[in-house]
Amino acid sequence: MAKFPCVNPGFILGSFDPENSFAMSKTLVSPLKLAPSVSSPLRFWHRGQIVNSGNVPPDRTLLDLLREDLRLSATKEGCAAGDCGACTVVVAEAVDGRLQYRAVNSCIKPAHAIDGMALWTAADLAQPGGTLHPVQRAMVDCHGSQCGFCTPGFVMSLFALYQRTVAQGQSVDKHIALQALSGNLCRCTGYRPIVQAACSLQADPAQAVDEAPIVVALQTLAASQQATGDYQRPTSLPALLQARAHHPKAQLIAGATDAGLWITQGLRRIPQIIDLTRVNELRQVMHYPDHIAIGAAVSLQDAFEALAADRPVIAPFGERFAGWPIRQSGTLGGNVANGSPIGDSMPLLIGLGAQVVLMAWRNVRGQGRMVHRHVPLEQFYTGYRQSLLATDEVLAWVVVPRPTPGEWLGVYKVSKRQEDDISAVCLALQLQVHGGLIQSVRIGAGGVAAKPARAVQTEAALVGQPWNEASLAAAQATIQQEFSPLSDLRASADYRRKILAQLLRRAWLESTGQSAIRLEDLT
Ligand SMILES: Cc1cc2nc3c(=O)[nH]c(=O)nc-3n(C[C@H](O)[C@H](O)[C@H](O)COP(=O)(O)OP(=O)(O)OC[C@H]3O[C@@H](n4cnc5c(N)ncnc54)[C@H](O)[C@@H]3O)c2cc1C
Ligand code: FES
Ligand code: FES
Repeated sequence: MAKFPCVNPGFILGSFDPENSFAMSKTLVSPLKLAPSVSSPLRFWHRGQIVNSGNVPPDRTLLDLLREDLRLSATKEGCAAGDCGACTVVVAEAVDGRLQYRAVNSCIKPAHAIDGMALWTAADLAQPGGTLHPVQRAMVDCHGSQCGFCTPGFVMSLFALYQRTVAQGQSVDKHIALQALSGNLCRCTGYRPIVQAACSLQADPAQAVDEAPIVVALQTLAASQQATGDYQRPTSLPALLQARAHHPKAQLIAGATDAGLWITQGLRRIPQIIDLTRVNELRQVMHYPDHIAIGAAVSLQDAFEALAADRPVIAPFGERFAGWPIRQSGTLGGNVANGSPIGDSMPLLIGLGAQVVLMAWRNVRGQGRMVHRHVPLEQFYTGYRQSLLATDEVLAWVVVPRPTPGEWLGVYKVSKRQEDDISAVCLALQLQVHGGLIQSVRIGAGGVAAKPARAVQTEAALVGQPWNEASLAAAQATIQQEFSPLSDLRASADYRRKILAQLLRRAWLESTGQSAIRLEDLT
């Protein structure tokens, strides 16, 4: 059984024991005084000023705040589900004296999530005299501007791209442009001139944002930040766990790329929210000799980059996860905790032998302490969107073993669209073959059961066998009877079973060097 050393300097951790209830942390923190549920302040930088909005409900979306409360109608509503990108705005946080820019879907982002940040909408780019920003100029010159709904969103994705690249002296190629625009849909199919506009950005002299005064303004806001009220933004792990313990009915959120849809599509009211994205300890990826630990506030984009640094095959798979804005807001921890049976990261993480670290604030011998436990991911799920997570617990870390010599990994997503789509079937296979025989194999599967699953029967059929066509055929037969997938709008049960077998074949072809056409290589 895999043994993970301590994942956080604050943890005192022995070897992993699945039966163990809680290991106790020696970190002792005095309890915070938690304020009663009152409206949280909401302040952000916009057009050179601090906007101070009072009495904003915790579940008010940023789009509604902009359009309805502040009457800033440049930002449009298309789908209200994070899919189309019409509502894209750009936010920036001050990190180490610089601004970090993100394009976000304002339709599913709680307004309070941008407290302490800077905000730009499509009406904020042109200079006061009307001179267009280079991204607007490029859209005009390349005839990229079409309908008034999608264009503001495209422009904002281009602005975020511009600040990340051209303003830093870097150029934009087609791959980077397609990534940056992967969260923007255009129903009139005018993508070519828009991509051309993105690739032409370096032609203009750079017109970067003057960051210094904005950084100063944001630092002043941060200094006076309060993590209280009906939208809490704790900044430390003990504060997060105490808030969770004191408000077990509050909705915990990270990027809100799932939870935001409960508001806009499910029409749910959420009277109290705990937002974990400001927790410093959880915003990091920790690297150890045998594993990496990905904090629950790390974005999907950064998490996939960290995983791909060890296993490059993960990079194209990560790019198939939603689109750029969702990957920048959403977290790996949120994907895992949400527990959708068609979530993309879990089959991969199960295939890699990942564990989750669950943490809580508990009373131990009369004193409040942080406690934690490690759970292998395949044991975390107990049923359809159900898990071992207790009401006072937070998923704090995803712990992923690093590759061992000779490891081969294949990871596949089958969906109707290449970008911005949820999978019908997902399969990850990690393999060690020595002397022609399969020494070890782990298979994670999604879209084929009520929860993300490990294909233990198929693994058993393969271990100790030669990695040849006969073993493959046996494994294909086993995996098809191991799962009983459902038919739904994404795929029929029959199709899903067939795809499982075909993905195993693809893994066999690729791992034995006989491969195979890779979808990512087709243009
Ligand atoms: C347009 C669009 C495309 C998408 N495409 C994909 C896709 O291709 N593949 C895919 O798998 N998913 C996809 N999703 C779903 C979503 O983006 C992911 O599930 C994402 O990882 C959720 O993370 P989050 O931080 O936004 O979670 P949130 O929405 O903030 O939270 C989701 C749930 O998890 C809980 N939670 C979050 N963090 C923690 C934690 N640390 N501890 C305990 N509980 C926690 C919350 O309480 C909530 O119940 C898509 C969503 C949209 C809107
Ligand atoms: S309105 Fe479509 S992504 Fe927000
Ligand atoms: S730009 Fe709106 S449909 Fe194409």
